[in-house]
Amino acid sequence: MAFPIVRHRRLRASAGIRGMVRETVLNPLDLIQPIFVTYGTGIKKEIASMPGVYHFSLDTLKEEVDDIVSLGIPAVLLFGIPETKDAVGSSGFDENGVVQEATRLIKQWHPELLVVADTCLCEFTDHGHCGMVHTHTVDGVLHGDVMNDASLELLTRTAVSQAKAGADIIAPSNMMDGFVQAIRAGLDEAGFDHVPIMSYSVKYASAFYGPFREAADSAPQFGDRKTYQMDPANVREAIREAESDVLEGADMLMVKPALAYMDVIRVIREQFELPLVAYNVSGEYSMVKAAAQQGWINEKAIVLELLTGLKRAGADTIITYHAKDAVRWLRGE
Ligand code: PBG
Repeated sequence: MAFPIVRHRRLRASAGIRGMVRETVLNPLDLIQPIFVTYGTGIKKEIASMPGVYHFSLDTLKEEVDDIVSLGIPAVLLFGIPETKDAVGSSGFDENGVVQEATRLIKQWHPELLVVADTCLCEFTDHGHCGMVHTHTVDGVLHGDVMNDASLELLTRTAVSQAKAGADIIAPSNMMDGFVQAIRAGLDEAGFDHVPIMSYSVKYASAFYGPFREAADSAPQFGDRKTYQMDPANVREAIREAESDVLEGADMLMVKPALAYMDVIRVIREQFELPLVAYNVSGEYSMVKAAAQQGWINEKAIVLELLTGLKRAGADTIITYHAKDAVRWLRGE
């Protein structure tokens, strides 16, 4: 009788030995928790399509941030829901805008907590696009082109206002060409040469952003984002996008979404030396929550498996709405 020459099961025999040979370990320090901030008072409103994720007004924010800090999560990513929107997204670069106010407060409460500011216009424009739009009507239907270079000026103003408010990291998510270069120059000129850029280098035009657009009220009012976000079918283009961001001075790269793009995470990891962030986006979160609410999956096991998978694929850092839960579960709670 022939026995197996190699016995892989020896190293799986106990929790102790599995722990000893484990290749990838998820750590609270790997995680970034996104937060949605809004105007008003006394608001802690759950986002219907994202159970467990809330809009916070500035007066209810402290409790949430305290919680994040006490869990040992090192960073938050801020999104703002402004009071007013206009064609150029001016509430995005208002010195007293909701993201700027929230940043100042968080840095007062917890100077050591890293505030990452998402730099985009779509939450602040009335048309919901990530840049300035040139509109025209064809047969009574509104069309618009997102203007690249004109948008860069507005995005740079947004980034500078976020840095002025105390943001530790600028994370531009707008996918205009040259955004890293423009924002780097603007930050340097304003005296923020020490503030790093976490570039959303490889961002696909994805249906997985659906719940976020409800949360941020940022769905485009006409057209879609396919003229600036990437085609999900492409991976060589991801390398070109990341390459240009490196040349333009990005400090960290990102792949977004995460779960349908683990091959892209792996390729970017292998081709570039910069720290790599994976964004586990809203739709990915909501699918897990919905199945968990139905009792169809074990939420804790699924979330830890997914996040570990993203690290194994090559991500150093993961932006995830599961961050707080994941840390509790890692602690065995
Ligand atoms: C802003 C931005 C979006 C997300 C992060 N920054 C929306 C979009 O591009 O439409 C999506 C995040 C998520 O789905 O969790 N441009």
